[in-house]
Amino acid sequence: MLSALYKVFRPILFSCDAELAHRIALSFLAALPPGARPSDPPELRVRLWDREFINPVGLAAGMDKNAVAAPAWQRVGFGFVEMGTVTPRPQPGNRQPRLFRLKEHRALVNRLGFPGDGMEAIARRIERLKSRGVAISIGVNIGPNKNTLESDVARDYAAVMARISPVADFIVINISSPNTPGLRDWQAPERMRTILSAINGAISQKLRHTPILVKISPDLEPEPLGQICDAALELGLDGIVATNTTIAREAVGINFSEAGGLSGAPLTERSRAIIRQIYRRVGPKLPIIGVGGIMNAEDAWEHIRAGASLVELYTGLIYEGPGVVTAIKSGLLGLLRREGFRSISEAVGSKA
Ligand SMILES: Cc1cc2nc3c(=O)[nH]c(=O)nc-3n(C[C@H](O)[C@H](O)[C@H](O)COP(=O)(O)O)c2cc1C
Repeated sequence: MLSALYKVFRPILFSCDAELAHRIALSFLAALPPGARPSDPPELRVRLWDREFINPVGLAAGMDKNAVAAPAWQRVGFGFVEMGTVTPRPQPGNRQPRLFRLKEHRALVNRLGFPGDGMEAIARRIERLKSRGVAISIGVNIGPNKNTLESDVARDYAAVMARISPVADFIVINISSPNTPGLRDWQAPERMRTILSAINGAISQKLRHTPILVKISPDLEPEPLGQICDAALELGLDGIVATNTTIAREAVGINFSEAGGLSGAPLTERSRAIIRQIYRRVGPKLPIIGVGGIMNAEDAWEHIRAGASLVELYTGLIYEGPGVVTAIKSGLLGLLRREGFRSISEAVGSKA
């Protein structure tokens, strides 16, 4: 039903400013009554961090920054969602316009800069969702406020972690958005260590069971990427989300001068190469959530074969509509059977 509606309304939404279209679509989804959760075949189930994901296809961070539409994501058929980026205090983000469509490339460029309601409002919203019985796994992506001094950035991560981890199924430390000045510098191993020790100082051991992942940039060269993988293992992180948007343009065949992070089809190969490098370095010791340029089932499958245990999408949902989630799941099932795998987990890294 939702995918038929999207087909009708897509031309109207695409004729509006991209951020306005996003706001209209999200308000519509947030207002929907909770529907039945589609059931998925057992081959698509993934067990990670002692949790069960009913299928490996998730919603990437940024689409539902304020956690307003979880029941709708469940109804669309996602196996999990990543809300956020959530900052300690509410903030407006960068000046508009700050979101652009590159239709001929099936891509977006955004420089939103973490607009959001702040951790308190979002934590309460997720608590309410859980108490209403919304079953979908909810991960939360966390980041610092834009006006936080560099010396206090680690404290921002720790504050959101302390407030959000009791209500989240997993936490993603975002150190790779290109739209918060200086954020990507926190990918340096010694800075990752600073964030982790602030987090460990701020939360009780009791809460430390919430898996913590780190989200990285697709613009990393092999050497720093290798160092990040080693640091993630050494710091006891539970996984890596690869990747965020890219600041590259020509390298991915795009000539577009607006600043911001590029997502969608031009990112597919770059994200997959990063996933493959991580998998080759750390193998199954550090599960990967593969994200970047997944527009159809084949893209998701190749991210999985490169090493991703779960996958996520954002831009593919904008261009293809909510029906893409069902299409990806049934495509994955067909590919699994055709290639002779019994489960998604068995296929992870089989082409790394
Ligand atoms: C409009 C927009 C906003 C985004 N906001 C966030 C964000 O707040 N935090 C984050 O970690 N990633 C954010 N992302 C990045 C996505 O989560 C994802 O990593 C990236 O878009 C690549 O996936 P895709 O090609 O499927 O879109 C955003 C992406 C877009 C297009």
